[in-house]
Amino acid sequence: KSYSHILTETRGKVGLITLNRPKALNALCGDLFVEVNEALRNYDTNDNIGAVVITGSEKAFAAGADIKEMKDKAFIETYKNNFLGHWAEMTEIKKPILAAVNGYALGGGCELAMMCDIIYAGEKAVFGQPEIKLGVIPGAGGTQRLVKAVGKSKAMEMILTGSVNLNATEALSLGLVSKVVPAAELVDETVKTAEKIASMGQPSVQMAKEAVNKSFEVPLSAGLRWERILFQALFGTADQKEGMAAFVEKRKANFTNQ
Ligand code: HXC
Repeated sequence: KSYSHILTETRGKVGLITLNRPKALNALCGDLFVEVNEALRNYDTNDNIGAVVITGSEKAFAAGADIKEMKDKAFIETYKNNFLGHWAEMTEIKKPILAAVNGYALGGGCELAMMCDIIYAGEKAVFGQPEIKLGVIPGAGGTQRLVKAVGKSKAMEMILTGSVNLNATEALSLGLVSKVVPAAELVDETVKTAEKIASMGQPSVQMAKEAVNKSFEVPLSAGLRWERILFQALFGTADQKEGMAAFVEKRKANFTNQ
């Protein structure tokens, strides 16, 4: 399917979404996010796909929500239409989503990356939440997810000044991203990890994602209970039988996602 603001392709069992509004540094207009959500849903229901990678260009992953699109909006309009609420639909996707961030990931761009499950950064990546300079605050999870990723003091510094950004090395040392690679190799490297994930049994991959995400939502005891139930549920899958039989027989597991 062809879209206006994104490009999609599949590489093996990996779906690749490339944000493609180069003239606006991939500013996230409402329609772009509708397209991202649609592409993600299509990959989520496609049995041949096991994980998704989202990337932008070498200059910009995304420079934020589209300022030109939102500058004249009135409060009542944003409230009534739940402005940008549809961004959160991507958190309903069951398959893992990896962000490959080259260049600017600012405002909504940083928040988009943080809605993904794994972030890899190119060497020139820049993460920031500059909304305060526009007279607003992060609105797609920045005040919540950034704190959990980098801790309170750094998150406050970034969000309150709008000009303290993280480069790739800083983002790595703070735990916001899990790998830094040369810009030109970033997408391939991220797809490689996505392929590794896609080669595992899908029920266990998806339940693992769900269980990890639970840790952000509920107290430890409830998270541990959730984890245990999911773990036990996996004994109802063929992949569990196959994975454990393969270990005992000293061969590679051949998962069927059942
Ligand atoms: C609309 C944008 C844009 C944005 C860049 N552009 N960011 N358009 N919304 N967020 C456009 C510019 O207007 C310009 O188009 C073109 O992209 C190139 O940008 P330049 O500024 O000329 O490039 P450069 O000098 O290299 O500077 C790059 C930059 C800067 C540092 C990333 O563009 C910048 O500061 N952008 C805004 C970053 C920001 O404030 N993001 C937060 C947005 S608020 P024209 O046609 O004018 O030349 C947000 C809220 C999230 O994200 C809430 C979510 C729910």
